Order: sequence, then structure tokens, then C-alpha cells
Amino acid sequence: MPRHSERTQSWRVGVLFSQTGVTSVIEKTQLNGTLLAIEELNSAGGVLGRQIEPVIYDPASEPYRFRDLALQLTNVDKVNVIFGCYMSSTRKAVLPVVERHNALLFYPTLYEGFEFSPNVIYTGAAPNQNSVQLAHFLMESFGKRFYFVGSNYIYPYESNRIMRDLVRQSGGEIIDERYLPLDAVEEDFESVVVDIVKNQPDVIFSTVVGQATAHFYRAYARAGLNSDMIPIASLTTNEADIREMGAEVACGHYTSAPYFEGIETEENECFVARFRARFGADEPVTSGAEAAYFQVHLFAEALKKSGDIGTEVLRNELMGGEYSAPQGRVRIDPDNGHTYLWPRIARVDANGRFVVVATTSSAVKPDPYLVSPQVNDWSLRQFKIMQTAPHMANRSKLK
Ligand code: ACM
Repeated sequence: MPRHSERTQSWRVGVLFSQTGVTSVIEKTQLNGTLLAIEELNSAGGVLGRQIEPVIYDPASEPYRFRDLALQLTNVDKVNVIFGCYMSSTRKAVLPVVERHNALLFYPTLYEGFEFSPNVIYTGAAPNQNSVQLAHFLMESFGKRFYFVGSNYIYPYESNRIMRDLVRQSGGEIIDERYLPLDAVEEDFESVVVDIVKNQPDVIFSTVVGQATAHFYRAYARAGLNSDMIPIASLTTNEADIREMGAEVACGHYTSAPYFEGIETEENECFVARFRARFGADEPVTSGAEAAYFQVHLFAEALKKSGDIGTEVLRNELMGGEYSAPQGRVRIDPDNGHTYLWPRIARVDANGRFVVVATTSSAVKPDPYLVSPQVNDWSLRQFKIMQTAPHMANRSKLK
């Protein structure tokens, strides 16, 4: 397999983010993050004097399209580095292809953990970098009676299994758990909302993803519910979803993620300004976009050292690789190919912006198999809740 495009002497890489289908709203932001990093590197002269040449396809939010296009990239386009995937079902579809061809998938999305492949670099959060902190925060702030609502595929089932363990360890309970199709619309959530009102949990943990997210939050608001009564907390609801559902519907709900658009550091403000200058003032910057952006820079740093895009040499340079990302300094953990990240929790304000209410003082080592972390995880000692929730005030209105 040629290790770079022989005609142009460029470094050719594959890019698989959906521009159509149920998760296109978030994946377009990941495509933007990827392209921004590639363009920045190319305008600074490329890597070792060669431009990075992205081969971009639209897998339309369908796992089988991801698999077919990964095969196209490895077999026809002769690419061995792929940036892509949002839903875990799509990563699982690409995994056998990259393993069979000894290629490298850079995956910039939070996921359920319990996976390791030498052919994947995981740059989104593992459960010990978002779920553990969120469980702790929600039980401290609201109570221990949880209701789960999710989309019907692997990530919600597995993420709920982890959250259930964390809640039960602290003596909490799961009132019910519901799964809806990925293409569920507002009316589909009505019976779930009725059940929530009937059961009155302390908090809702949502693993609904993609376009259904706005439908769920809207159905919730239309039934007269809001975050003061029972907050919705998520690992996935992001700036692009809020743009879809509107500030009024999103206001007061929570997300746990390593990155939010409004993080007040110079690094992030410059990143957001460059992102907006390139893609438009209204384009949302998400946690997925930030990971998509910094993972290209981690790849470029490794490539600079290896001088060769071959999988083995590149992976050797990637392990332990560091980069000053917009969220803070990140590092690929040589133990497991996941990334040290900065857990945060944010609450949506009345203008539809995430305001960080809890954060860490250092990056947290990824533990994809949750070997040690539990709700009493050592890293929680560094996790500071800065703003307690304006909670419970209106709970009586439900009764
Ligand atoms: C996900 O499916 N990993 C969000």
C-alpha cells in the first residue's frame, strides 16, 4: 500500500463524518473541526513539506455505509488513516475494517468504554471522564431517583448500564428506562413524558442522540415541564442540539463533557474565533468538533516525528503524544490508546449557552474498562462543583 499519494506527494487521509441522516447535525461540526485543523496545517506548509489531502465521504449516519466507505478508503483510495465516526454503532462497523487492514481510526466521540483496539485512537471521553462525575454531581444536587431515556442502539444501553451501577452503589434507584428509535419525533416522546410525570424521578439521564434530542427536550417543555422541576442530564446534548431546540427549551438542563464552546481560556477563544471565521458566525462548536480538531493535530505531531504514515511507526509516535487543545493539554495514554481529558459539567443558561458549573484541576487518565473508578473515584477529589443547582424550587408544581 502506498504510504502517501505518489502523484501529489501529499499525505492522504480518509474522513468519515455524516453530512446527512439522523446524527448529521453533530457530525457536521466534527467534519468542520477536522477540516479546520487540516487547513491550518496545510497553510503553515503541511507536515514535513507535504500537504494533508482529505478524502471525504458522507456515510449518512448508517453503520453499513460507514463500513462500505471504510473499505473504499482502505482498498481503493489506499488510505490507512481515517478520522471519523460518531455513533458507537458506526465505530463498531468500521472496527473490523481497520483491524483487517491494519489501518488507524481516530475516533473523536465520547462512548461507553469497554473497548480497546490497537487500530483505534480514542479522543472522546470514556465513562470515567464524564459518567462518574455526572453521577456524583446529580446525586449531590438533586437526589438518587433516576429515570433513563435513550435512543435504541448500543451506546445508550451500555452507558445506562454504567450509570445504573454508579447510582446503585450510592443507594440510588432507577425508576424506569425507555428506548426510542433514532428517528423518533416529538409525538413519540409524549408517552415517556407522561410516565416521567407519573413517577416523579429526581433527575432524567438522557442518552438520546442526534435529531431526536431536540424532539425529546421539546416534548418535555411542551408538557409544561422544565429543569427546575426535574432536570435532564446528558453526555451528548451539545451546542448544535441546543441550536436546533432553542434556548427556552434547553434552559437549565445539564451536560457532562470535556469541552464547551464557552470555556474562558485564551486557547479556546482563539479556536472558536478561527472556527467561526472559517464556517460562519452561527456555526456551533461542540465537544465532538474540538476532539475532531485536536486529534488531527496529534496525528500531525506524530507524523512529523515518524516521517512515515505507516500504521506501526505512526502509532508508536502517537502513544504519549500531547497537544495544547482548546479544553486544556491532552495526552494519548500509551496504556490504552484513549486520551487524558478534562471533565466538566455545564448548565444551559437563558441565552442557550453552556455555563460550566463543575470542573477538574487536571486532566483525568482514561480508564475505559472502569477498573478503578467508581463514584468514590480518586479523580473526583479534584472535581470542583463551583455552582450548586438552583434546584427543587418548583418541584411542588409537579404534584
Ligand atoms: C456514541 O454513540 N458514542 C455517542
